[in-house]
Amino acid sequence: MSLRQASGLSDGFLTLGIETSCDDTATAVLKDDQVLTELLSSQIKDHAPFGGVVPEFAARKHLENILPLVDAALKEAGVAAKKLNLIAVTLGPGLMGSLMVGVETARALSQAWNVPLIGVNHLEGHMFAPLVDSDLKPPFLSLIVSGGHTEIIRVDDFGRYSMLGATRDDAAGEAYDKAAKVMGLSYPGGPEIDRLAKEGNPRAFDFPVPLKNTDRVEFSFSGLKTALLWQVDKLKKSGNVPLPDLCASFQRAVTDALIAKVVLAVKQTGIKDVAVSGGVAANSALRKALEDGRQWKPHLPRPSRCTDNAVMIAMAGRNAWRRGVRSPSALAPDPSLEFAS
Ligand code: KG4
Ligand code: ZN
Repeated sequence: MSLRQASGLSDGFLTLGIETSCDDTATAVLKDDQVLTELLSSQIKDHAPFGGVVPEFAARKHLENILPLVDAALKEAGVAAKKLNLIAVTLGPGLMGSLMVGVETARALSQAWNVPLIGVNHLEGHMFAPLVDSDLKPPFLSLIVSGGHTEIIRVDDFGRYSMLGATRDDAAGEAYDKAAKVMGLSYPGGPEIDRLAKEGNPRAFDFPVPLKNTDRVEFSFSGLKTALLWQVDKLKKSGNVPLPDLCASFQRAVTDALIAKVVLAVKQTGIKDVAVSGGVAANSALRKALEDGRQWKPHLPRPSRCTDNAVMIAMAGRNAWRRGVRSPSALAPDPSLEFAS
């Protein structure tokens, strides 16, 4: 036991978070639950010309970015590497090449600095994003709406999660990205549609709200994209494609579909605290609809922490460590890592 520990003096528990599951390289340092630094190198501009993420290109970019971002985060936080208490890294789900860069880097640093390492499920990470600036404790409902996932999870305790329902086909973020492509907008589509929708009429087009009235927590967005495609084709023939109205109407349909199932999940479980995360949680219409809801209390991360970031990975890793979860030393990335069942 060190003198510092023996005397009861503590600098706080220092966690380095590393996230590389898709196209953002991110690092963060936490002292207990307080964020000391958060850094992110976005690859959006690199992938935009291809209309989506190119996996091999993403892995190469992570490799260029990761060590400088770890260094910069520690410097900015004023933390010496060997003082870290934990390194938390995203294990999956995600792109294999991207995950590998993060996990292998974290493993090497853990050995070199003699700091314990924990693997984090990317979705559990998202689940923790709304908890960073709040003291929300379980039980609560977690709506995760990202580029790859759309699901509502019941959180009875940290580490005790059950899936209430998920999307049958496309994720909400994927629907935004595909809709943007149909309308000739740039990647990623969500922020573009959000921006243009502000100038449009959400009732201009009557897009279907998928599965709105079923009594199951479930989503489907592929039919909505097809309805948009037909509408755009028809409008092109008429020579007038009112993008703001199309965006506002599409956004209304996605938002209504999400809110309908939040209402249902709250009703079915009696749990009123709803934590929302993932890239689509940055959407202004969804945020407003959640904040206007009377049957629940929304918990939303700041927009920059809705999309992928390392603060949420550090938070989730720190929480799992505290409840006794330990990762095997031969930590390996898993692109299709499951979360909740
Ligand atoms: O959580 P995230 O960064 O990555 C995944 O884990 O998938 O989410 C990215 C997704 C993209 O599909 C993007 O279009 C969407 O989140 N997104 C938005 C907004 N900002 C990002 N969708 C709607 N409105 C936004 N403001
Ligand atoms: Zn994500």
